Amino acid sequence: MIKFVDKTEHKTINMRAKIVAGNWKMNNDLDESKSLVKKIAKSIKKQPLENTRVIVAPTYVSLQKVASKAKGTKVEVAAQNMHFEKSGAFTGEISATMLKSVGVHIVILGHSERREYFGETDALLAKKVDAALANKMEIIFCFGEVLADRKAGNHFKVVESQIKNGLFHLEAGAWKNIILAYEPVWAIGTGETASPEQAQEMHAFIRKIVADKYGNDVAENVSVLYGGSVKPSNAREIFSKPDVDGGLIGGAALNIDDFKAIIEAI
Ligand code: 13P
Repeated sequence: MIKFVDKTEHKTINMRAKIVAGNWKMNNDLDESKSLVKKIAKSIKKQPLENTRVIVAPTYVSLQKVASKAKGTKVEVAAQNMHFEKSGAFTGEISATMLKSVGVHIVILGHSERREYFGETDALLAKKVDAALANKMEIIFCFGEVLADRKAGNHFKVVESQIKNGLFHLEAGAWKNIILAYEPVWAIGTGETASPEQAQEMHAFIRKIVADKYGNDVAENVSVLYGGSVKPSNAREIFSKPDVDGGLIGGAALNIDDFKAIIEAI
């Protein structure tokens, strides 16, 4: 976060970070993951990424190697999920301390695929949020409405309740470790993107509910990403909206040329 003083208005303005994050989902084996992160790091090495972060989220099996390849580069590495407990009889799960032990300090929580296919509820996510923050991890917190909600005009209500139930128990100070990601479910992997206007409308709404609860300072400093069929052909327009601070990219993050073009768009 960069602070500077706007001399004309005599007030301090905070510039929230721009972020392009690639969620690789269940794609890329170890060799493919290593090769992709290497290509990304190389492609942005000389790029002036002022106040801009590039994050990739590989599968668990590749995390350690990708994190070590990314060390010392401009690429940061996130996990796609984690359990809220520290350890124990939770077959197939991974804890925050385990992620940190392989050099991963960022975690995606609440992705719609976790909510839909793995039954993750708001209450469960609130626990995961607490566990991640207790371990000083940064969270990319995802939410978004399904098509039926949008058609029924319930999208604002749905998004508000997902954010409230997952995050509004937090103290204001915790928000420096929160990145929000609005991902309308009807736009994920469908090729159908929210229009830049739809994204801006929702992002402005999100910032307003955060401001109402925590004040302008928190709201102005939280990065709000858009996710859902972002590609080189639409990234620039979506990112040009004032409340869109970047993207959480699925399919297009798997292709170096597309991902590079999306980073350039920001
Ligand atoms: P797509 O970019 O493939 O639509 O996926 C978006 C997403 O779910 C990122 O988390």
